[in-house]
Amino acid sequence: MTKPVIAIDGPAASGKGTLARSLATKLEFAFMDTGALYRATAFELLAAGLSAKDKSDAMDAAKILVKRIKNAENPQDVLENKTLREDKIGKEASKIAAYPVVREALNKLQRDFAADPGTLYKGAVLDGRDIGTVICPDADLKLFITAKTEIRAERRLKELQSRGIAATYEAVLEDMRERDARDAERETAPMKPADDAVIIDSSDLDAGEMLEKVILLVKQRLTN
Ligand code: CDP
Repeated sequence: MTKPVIAIDGPAASGKGTLARSLATKLEFAFMDTGALYRATAFELLAAGLSAKDKSDAMDAAKILVKRIKNAENPQDVLENKTLREDKIGKEASKIAAYPVVREALNKLQRDFAADPGTLYKGAVLDGRDIGTVICPDADLKLFITAKTEIRAERRLKELQSRGIAATYEAVLEDMRERDARDAERETAPMKPADDAVIIDSSDLDAGEMLEKVILLVKQRLTN
């Protein structure tokens, strides 16, 4: 019998990652941060002295990453690199994420994870930009988490500062607007809510309130 899948999409710093992690812990589901796959691909590329300009370089970097994850004793270790959270990497990730060949190289890993999250888990939670639309169109529950851009920029600024990374509000806001536009306007797998997604604006909700709201939805949709 297949296990339930929860798809969570939304723009940067909307609160989707925090929600996805806490929801997975609460429900004993496995969690995959699919943005980390794009960030780690961008990291591979930059570490090799290359850039997002060439799509075949980016595709090769994605394929190398997939192999490394498959061969790792603990795949999560490959994605736990702190550098991946830097804004420079996020920006590069959103550039390579627009290449269909890069997305194709990363899609199977995500679909396999959703189909088989492992015997220890009761289901799977994946967060990203195209989970409800492309990766798991048959997910049992689809959420699209959003928030006002200024609030998201404030949250991202605090996150960067707490990691000791220097940044200004203006620069973070500008980067975020640029990245949102690139993610929403690309032709392949653009960031958008699935037709059957529940849209939640997290502007006035803290992490605990958001989790409570979503747990109610899970009870309504997943327990029959
Ligand atoms: O944490 P944050 O929301 O800032 O970004 P992320 O989820 O780590 O994703 C980084 C970038 O990867 C995004 O800006 C997207 O361009 C890309 N991405 C994607 O295209 N599809 C996904 N499923 C996840 C991320």
